[in-house]
Amino acid sequence: MRLEGKVAIVSGGASGIGEATSRLFADEGARVVIADVNDELGAAIESDITNGGGEAVYQRLDVTEEVRWEAVVAETVARFGKLDVVVNSAGISAPGRPPAEEQTANGWDAVMAVNAKGVFLGVKHAIPEMRKSGGGSIINISSIYGNVGSKGGTAYHASKGAVRTFSKAAAIQYADEGIRVNSVHPGFVDTPMTLGLHSQPGVRDERVGKTPLGRMGVPEDIAYGILYLASDESSFVTGSELVIDGGMTAQ
Ligand SMILES: NC(=O)c1ccc[n+]([C@@H]2O[C@H](COP(=O)([O-])OP(=O)(O)OC[C@H]3O[C@@H](n4cnc5c(N)ncnc54)[C@H](O)[C@@H]3O)[C@@H](O)[C@H]2O)c1
Repeated sequence: MRLEGKVAIVSGGASGIGEATSRLFADEGARVVIADVNDELGAAIESDITNGGGEAVYQRLDVTEEVRWEAVVAETVARFGKLDVVVNSAGISAPGRPPAEEQTANGWDAVMAVNAKGVFLGVKHAIPEMRKSGGGSIINISSIYGNVGSKGGTAYHASKGAVRTFSKAAAIQYADEGIRVNSVHPGFVDTPMTLGLHSQPGVRDERVGKTPLGRMGVPEDIAYGILYLASDESSFVTGSELVIDGGMTAQ
């Protein structure tokens, strides 16, 4: 029960890395708000967790809408009394992963809105409630593509780089209030987001080939790192970037 007594919001909590995090957090004793735009999946995970004896509730949240962040934080506190942990996992990839000259401005804005602004708003609205409880932990899901470049993708890299540095700035700004902010950088992970790409044998083989540990990641590989950062075991960790990529960016 590494999160016993803690209250957490997981954006993007209805699928992939966010789903694995919601389930693991509930298993570890947290009360979890699954916040997503996928009502069907969110409700199903809420049922699964509560039927298994855990505590979770689904809330509709489009992370790009500031008023919804305000409402979901307020509803979380009304229901569970406080807010200790926010995981910003909601994210989208850019269709076709275009290189810079082929990236449309509208496509750029759409990716930045969810992946960068959505994380900023999550941090912004977590801070006041965490301050009231004397501290908290915010975990922002970036990517190895927030640290290094690649042939495919432009806005995605920019958005994940923004998450990386923004997390460090927020970590410095709120450290003296006991609010920790860290980023997590997954490598290639099999989730609904990557299903289309990873089911192409050429891409799959290339990505596994680039990964020294020789396999794709699974959502739980990332969720265990997020769990560590959410728990008090990481109480001396802030402004750091946890890379979980099977060794991909170590070479
Ligand atoms: N899968 C990978 O290989 C990989 C690698 C590095 C980083 N990441 C990052 O991990 C995070 C989770 O990705 P995943 O692979 O689990 O993908 P996923 O598609 O399985 O999950 C993303 C979730 O975010 C939700 N979402 C999308 N737009 C939203 C919005 N505007 N408001 C609220 N929720 C929204 C979706 O409904 C979905 O439930 C993302 O930030 C992604 O960029 C994934």
